[in-house]
Amino acid sequence: MDFFEVVKKRASYRGPYKDQKVPDEDIRKILQAGIDAPSGMNFQGVSFIGVKDPEVLKKISEVISTPATQTAPLIVVITQKLSGPLVYGMSFNVEDYGAATENVWLAITALGYAGVWMDGMTKAGDNADKIKKILGIEDESIVKTIIPVGVPEKEPVPSEKKKFEERACII
Ligand SMILES: Cc1cc2nc3c(=O)[nH]c(=O)nc-3n(C[C@H](O)[C@H](O)[C@H](O)COP(=O)(O)O)c2cc1C
Repeated sequence: MDFFEVVKKRASYRGPYKDQKVPDEDIRKILQAGIDAPSGMNFQGVSFIGVKDPEVLKKISEVISTPATQTAPLIVVITQKLSGPLVYGMSFNVEDYGAATENVWLAITALGYAGVWMDGMTKAGDNADKIKKILGIEDESIVKTIIPVGVPEKEPVPSEKKKFEERACII
């Protein structure tokens, strides 16, 4: 798929998935896209876990329970080790996580799957800590988001975006 087609096609999908596995080769490509994202001062504090183990998937879907998480053959979990100030008192944790997550989502789309960035749902209550425990993560990493991934039962419909002139200009 052409890059610009991928960007246009990416859309939040919250419905159920077909009973179709995501091959390891595709999982690797999706996670590698996250690794390939830029990060401030190349800190690379964002990490990626591809969960395909049915027992672990079930446990995660009990924490964040939606039609997508309950049927996803793959859940990508994005974690982050926060950096302190890296240069001139600045750190780039928010930017690094955003860039990496969008790369992962675009890769998911490019490979013909659908997903949704469940940041809010992961942050809610103690969901992030519960998922961290399920995954047996013992270091200081924060679970930032989960992204359910699979072949959607229905094609996701891209949400409407404001017109070019409202949000962009060429000067
Ligand atoms: C930082 C961030 C947090 C989000 N959190 C959630 C979430 O918790 N649950 C959810 O269903 N969608 C979540 N979304 C998806 C947005 O609702 C979605 O991107 C937005 O409505 C635009 O739709 P689109 O992704 O189809 O373009 C999140 C998106 C972003 C970027």
